[in-house]
Amino acid sequence: NKGKYKHYMQKEIHEQPESLTTTMRGRLLRGGSCKAKTVLLGGLKDHLKTIRRSRRIVFIGCGTSYNAALAARPILEELSGVPVTMEIASDLLDRQGPIYREDTAVFVSQSGETADTLLALEYTLENGALCVGITNTVGSVIARNTHCGVHINAGCEIGVASTKAYTSQIVVMAMLALAIGGDTISKQERREAIIDGLFDLPNKIREVLKLDQEMKDLAKLLIAEQSLLVFGRGYNYATALEGALKVKEVALMHSEGILAGEMKHGPLALVDENLPIVVIATHDACFSKQQSVIQQLRARKGRLIVMCSKGDAASVCPGGGCRVIEVPQVEDCLQPVVNIVPFQLLAYHLTVLRGYNVDQPRNLAKSVTTQ
Ligand code: UD1
Ligand code: M6R
Repeated sequence: NKGKYKHYMQKEIHEQPESLTTTMRGRLLRGGSCKAKTVLLGGLKDHLKTIRRSRRIVFIGCGTSYNAALAARPILEELSGVPVTMEIASDLLDRQGPIYREDTAVFVSQSGETADTLLALEYTLENGALCVGITNTVGSVIARNTHCGVHINAGCEIGVASTKAYTSQIVVMAMLALAIGGDTISKQERREAIIDGLFDLPNKIREVLKLDQEMKDLAKLLIAEQSLLVFGRGYNYATALEGALKVKEVALMHSEGILAGEMKHGPLALVDENLPIVVIATHDACFSKQQSVIQQLRARKGRLIVMCSKGDAASVCPGGGCRVIEVPQVEDCLQPVVNIVPFQLLAYHLTVLRGYNVDQPRNLAKSVTTQ
């Protein structure tokens, strides 16, 4: 049932304040004045000790689920102190990459049925690692075959392009980082800031959804373009990959997410006055590096659209000349949850304006059950 919306993708984008609330329900505890703020993931509580002691955490997934894990990687490294590596499921299988008994492997999948992820799970089980699932579908094969896990509880997702599952996956993995991080005193302030940020996140998503019309106007400008580049780094490297994936898969426009630190190692050659480029430059530890990326792109007459934190428009684009998308600022590790929303809206409007099928893009299936 699409209710007041024209398409499932549109409905699922706009219901993110509610889906995120459901994802966090009963899992974030903020007691009375003297009670500490904590996270409780029922499905993991008996396994946290093993996870903390593991030699490495390996995230495994495909497509949007992989991107969600990439977004959560820095905060997991920071809070857990355990090295975190990333595997695209098919690539792990192609390489028969090393997996050890001392590893914790985290399988991220909305459907819980993706063939590549499932085969990677079988491979990982054979190698003796602890297997943790992060799935949206209770009773799915991945939920059943992992040793333990967390349901993201985002509600049924129908649009082929994953939207609300992505934001709920990141939130679950941020909670996972808090749970593994435990209660070290030195990180208490940071943990409490993240928990406060999680409580307030649905409100911030409500705020960023107000950019709907602005993203529709941007889509009108970009409707006839051949290509769109997206530059991000740090917490928002994943946003660049996921934003580009959304535009590519539904609007059928070539789009590429690029790690901004790699700009001078090739991508800079593409820059001219015609190719539209989105630079994600919201406020975090990488901000000044992104400011310098913007300067260098402008020096080459790049056609820039800059995503920045509210109030930063003048400092990201001194003298004007860029189109600016201002988003609400949240705790740095949660910023990818906010920043992806304008890309989802842009991809949606571009698709409708270009006259393509939003919910069922050509050649794609919601759940990829063959290799
Ligand atoms: C569970 C209940 C929830 C109830 C809550 C009350 C289910 C599905 N969930 O939620 O209805 O309100 O207790 O305390 O009945 N699991 C995996 N792999 C996965 C995902 C989950 O093995 O990929 C396992 C977990 O380890 C856990 C079980 O499935 O044993 C349920 O997980 P989850 O729904 O996340 O647990 P709770 O949030 O505690
Ligand atoms: O169900 P899964 O999360 O395992 O699916 C993984 C990918 O097939 C999926 O995210 C795909 O990339 C989406 N169409 C992206 O929107």
